Amino acid sequence: MKKILVCNGKGGTGKSTTSILLAGATAESGQVVSIKDIDPQQTSHKWIEKALSDVTHFSQDATPKVIIVDSPPDIKFDQLHEEMLSADLIILVMEPSWINFETAADAAAVIDTLGVSWKTRILFNKVQVGTKMAKNLGEMEDRIGITALKNHLGQRQGYNHFYVYGWSYLSQKESDDVMKLAMEVMFLEPAMNEDIDENTMEVVNG
Ligand SMILES: Nc1ncnc2c1ncn2[C@@H]1O[C@H](COP(=O)(O)OP(=O)(O)OP(=O)(O)O)[C@@H](O)[C@H]1O
Ligand SMILES: [Mg+2]
Repeated sequence: MKKILVCNGKGGTGKSTTSILLAGATAESGQVVSIKDIDPQQTSHKWIEKALSDVTHFSQDATPKVIIVDSPPDIKFDQLHEEMLSADLIILVMEPSWINFETAADAAAVIDTLGVSWKTRILFNKVQVGTKMAKNLGEMEDRIGITALKNHLGQRQGYNHFYVYGWSYLSQKESDDVMKLAMEVMFLEPAMNEDIDENTMEVVNG
């Protein structure tokens, strides 16, 4: 069982969109997947009733292969911190804009305090290819100090409509991009020692 937590302290960055797209792609690839929605808004929870896929609500009794945890726009939420500690992978979903950068950096600071940066990855969402902002992804990644996923999500109408119309509504490009992201996320196994600095290693090794 792999638990993937999707978070950001800022509202509207695409936590719920990412959660349901990843859940949809995981179900589409034949894996048993559940969503645990700890956001009082219950966006992802409500989606499951509409979902034209096999995604289920998380229950303590069930043992899905993958659990996606959607979270509220509140980085100080106690239950979020508990989920951060127990997750196998944390996805910090952010829009590539400098205003959104500040709240993503605040979230990264909390993640760092909890000692879970090593299992966290940035997901850039609403990326508009060819824009100046899209060229700044590397700089934002460096400044936040958390590795970004190789795949990101574009600003696409299909991702907006997915909530109601489901997987088959996505264009080929849209579903291919989500599936590539889902595969990267499914197979990613962060190792704690990825954070060990090579210079420190040299000192330790004499
Ligand atoms: N990649 C995308 N392409 C197009 N629209 C998107 C994309 N990602 C998110 N959106 C839209 O942006 C809005 C906010 O997305 P979403 O509800 O997923 O954010 P959120 O982080 O879960 O918000 P909240 O903090 O309120 O829970 C929605 O209208 C959604 O359809
Ligand atoms: Mg949401």
